[in-house]
Parts: sequence; structure tokens; C-alpha cells
Amino acid sequence: MKRILILYYTQSGQLLSILQSLAKPLIHAGHTIHFEEIEPEEKFPFPWTSYEFFNAFPEVFFHKRQKIRSVSTRATNGYDLIILGYQPWFLTPSRPVSSFLQTEDSRKILANRPVITVLGCRNMWLGAQEKVKGRLKEVGASLIGHIALIDRSPNLTSLITILRWMFTGNRKPFWFFPAAGVSETDVENTQVYGEIINKAIDEADFSNLQTKLNDAGAIDIKPNLVLLERRGQKAFSVWSKFIASGGSLHSTGRKIRVYIFMYLLPAAIFILSPLLWIVSRILLLVKRKELIQDVEYFKQNSLRN
Ligand SMILES: Cc1cc2nc3c(=O)[nH]c(=O)nc-3n(C[C@H](O)[C@H](O)[C@H](O)COP(=O)(O)O)c2cc1C
Repeated sequence: MKRILILYYTQSGQLLSILQSLAKPLIHAGHTIHFEEIEPEEKFPFPWTSYEFFNAFPEVFFHKRQKIRSVSTRATNGYDLIILGYQPWFLTPSRPVSSFLQTEDSRKILANRPVITVLGCRNMWLGAQEKVKGRLKEVGASLIGHIALIDRSPNLTSLITILRWMFTGNRKPFWFFPAAGVSETDVENTQVYGEIINKAIDEADFSNLQTKLNDAGAIDIKPNLVLLERRGQKAFSVWSKFIASGGSLHSTGRKIRVYIFMYLLPAAIFILSPLLWIVSRILLLVKRKELIQDVEYFKQNSLRN
């Protein structure tokens, strides 16, 4: 029987539910599982005020390190497999997770170990996973599997429902909008991936794990979101510098910049995503091969040179 460490951070508990579902078949098979929460010393609010949410952006995007509590001694006991559960914030791993990945604890836990990453998000995680891949490579961990649970509602619908959830704590359906976040069915279905992992452990063969996970639906990427995310990364790089140049965290210069960002970002997404949807249809025809290669790239675990 194997010893498996599940490391995670979650605000609403969504990611923990996903990981608990994933772990069920592994627990059932008799493996020893230890859940370890990543805990920032200074907690982020949940629900957020809209100002707090957008004001957090530059430091999240810059991966600015915040203090993370030391993990328990059990977490550094040397595990056969590490499952890292995280969520993207602003196309980047959430700040508690990116900070944790910069700690000595993370090096101790992850170095030379097989790792499976699991995320629960709206639908834009490609860049965040690239950054996690980079860090895992630095510590010599081998990424053997990735599972991405997304909100399957249309892009603009999920933007509204998730922002409402983040700002009120309420994820229930309202008006004609569905519930926010990863659906209960998808959370429940995560067990299937747990069974696939369990089988790979039994066979002591992780070589085809990602293909098997993909066949079961662990990664579903829409080509138009590849384009949207690419543009988002570029825009965020400019905006993060613009906001940070406003001065210290509580300065008026910064506040003004955060407010501009707060109103322009959702407006830009609303205007750009239907436009990009059309562009992506055209590009799918013109640059079909390239875009499909991109999608395939994001469905595997090595890092581009
Ligand atoms: C500050 C912030 C930024 C976020 N940015 C993204 C993002 O870039 N892409 C995405 O798909 N989801 C994004 N989300 C949604 C989260 O990835 C996640 O689904 C949600 O916060 C629930 O996760 P939890 O398990 O921590 O409660 C963001 C959430 C927060 C709080």
C-alpha cells in the first residue's frame, strides 16, 4: 500500500470536495492518505469585497511571496505520491499556493517525487499550470498527471456567476443563471480519476496515466479559451505593472488604478470574448494545425523549451 499526500488550499471548500472525491477510491483501496492544508499567515477574505479582489491582482500576478505557516511534521514524511490541489487566480496559481511553492517546505515535500496536480476553477488555467510545471521542474518533481475541473457554463455566464459567488459567498442559481463553479456532478465524477490513479499505482506504471485521465475527460480545452488566455496574459502583464506603479498598497495612486482596472476588466472580457470567439472560429480554420497543437500541448505535462 502506498502513502499519498494531498496538499491543497481552498477558500470556499470547492477544491477540498473535489480532492475528497478523488481520494475515495484510493482510501477504499487501502492507501494511506494525509490531507495537508496550505495556510497563509495572513488569510485572504472570503467572500471578497470587489476592491480587495482587484487590489490583490498585481501581487498575485507577480507571484509575490507571502508568509505561509510551516506544514505539519506528517507532511514531510516522504510520500510515494503527492497530489497538489490549487486554483488559478488571475491566470496565475493562487497567491497562497505560489508562495508555498517558493518555500523550503515545498522543496522538501516535492523534490524527486511523482506529483499529480488537480485544479478547480472557472475555465482559465493554462498559464497557471505552466507556472506550476516550472516550479515542479525546479525542485526535480516529476509531474505525472493533471486534472482540471472547470465551470462548464459559457464563458460570460461563468464570469457573472463566479464573481457573484466570490463577492457574496452565494453560489446558488439565480434568475436564469446556473449555480457557480464546478458542478456537483463533476465533483462526484472525480472519483473516476481516483480509480484511474489507483489502477496506475497497482500496475506500478504511470507512463500512460495522463492519456488515460484525458480519455476519461480530465482535461477539456476549448481552442477559443487558448486565445483568450494568451491575450489575457499579455494584458495582465501590462495592467499589473500599471497598478503597482501607483505606489504603496494604500496610496491614492494605487486606489485610482485599481478602480480603473475593476471597471475595465469585466467590460473588456464582455466585449472581447464574443469577438475572440469569432476570431477563434476563423483562426481554427486558418491556423487549425497550430491551435490544435497548442491544445494538445496543454493536455500533457512537459514544459515547452
Ligand atoms: C482572486 C481570484 C482570481 C481568480 N482568477 C481566476 C482565473 O484567472 N481563472 C479561473 O479559471 N478562475 C479564477 N478564479 C476562480 C478560482 O480559480 C476558483 O475556482 C474559486 O476561487 C473557487 O476555489 P476555492 O476552492 O478556493 O474556493 C479566481 C478566483 C479568485 C478568488
